[in-house]
Amino acid sequence: VLCWFYIFPGYRLPRDKEIVEEVLRQGEVWQKNQTGIDVYRKLLTECCDPRRMFAVTKENSPMGKVLWYDGEFYHSHTVNNETYPLFVKRGGAVCVCVCCAVVGNGGILRHSKCGQDIDQADFIMRCNLPPLSKEYVEDVGTRTHLVTANPSIIEKRFQNLLWSRKAFVERMKVYGSSYIYMPAFSMKPGTDPSLRAYYALADTSSNLTMLFANPEFLRTVGKFWKARAVHAKRLSTGLFLVSLALGLCEEVTAYGFWPFSVGLDEQPVSHHYYDNILPYKWFHAMPEEFVQLWHLHKSGTLHMRVGRCP
Ligand code: CDP
Repeated sequence: VLCWFYIFPGYRLPRDKEIVEEVLRQGEVWQKNQTGIDVYRKLLTECCDPRRMFAVTKENSPMGKVLWYDGEFYHSHTVNNETYPLFVKRGGAVCVCVCCAVVGNGGILRHSKCGQDIDQADFIMRCNLPPLSKEYVEDVGTRTHLVTANPSIIEKRFQNLLWSRKAFVERMKVYGSSYIYMPAFSMKPGTDPSLRAYYALADTSSNLTMLFANPEFLRTVGKFWKARAVHAKRLSTGLFLVSLALGLCEEVTAYGFWPFSVGLDEQPVSHHYYDNILPYKWFHAMPEEFVQLWHLHKSGTLHMRVGRCP
């Protein structure tokens, strides 16, 4: 934070053009800093215990446990006979995470040719069931180990799974045998579609494994970043995944994080690599998040890829 204070006196959020200049000044240079990585893992472990807490598990959420929703006031779910069997046993075994890639959905990925680079990681995380069709493979790769799915996507793209489940099950095949990570206990209207998604996969013997995001983890990660100048109603999905990766992995590379309207060549860049639908303005604070991620990049804690891959 301190270095941004000097670069942008008065500690205001830098303008898009200033960010571009700052990123170009830094260039593609990145030097891994093991101490920085260890310090951040320790900080995240102390605040949020990602390894144990990122998902709702049989271990951290036994029968009778009250799960308080992180996106609602005073709403909770008490783990019961119906929900307990849907939880995985433990969270720790999700990956042997050495080199992790977190792939955001930013438009800078388009024509980046980062697909091969991404596919080389040991554990690849993606956000919001992104398209991985042929036209994007060169830029975003093909492999996935964990993909998030917001319940609102189930509602918008799959008629809330109240009608046919076939289209959903078919569309999920592109993610191979990865984990689907859904915030089922964040907002009240999201619970039923998440449970339906669980059954749609389980009933068709899908290769995917459902993980429900633990609302306690989402809440503690939110607080962690709030203390680091990220002021949003809710963190973006990408920042949740970067936080998870920093807690679990030896080395983290992030792709597709660029919430600005111009690219490094000062040409317009779309919001997503697959469309230009902008987010609801006051919900996330992606530029603030980027400032923090760039700070971690400069300190060698996290590698941000914002240009083309070689
Ligand atoms: O649902 P949400 O708005 O959080 O995410 P998305 O638009 O599906 O994109 C996935 C993630 O990529 C976001 O949560 C951001 O962290 C990141 N992103 C970015 O940094 N810059 C963009 N232009 C778009 C997405």
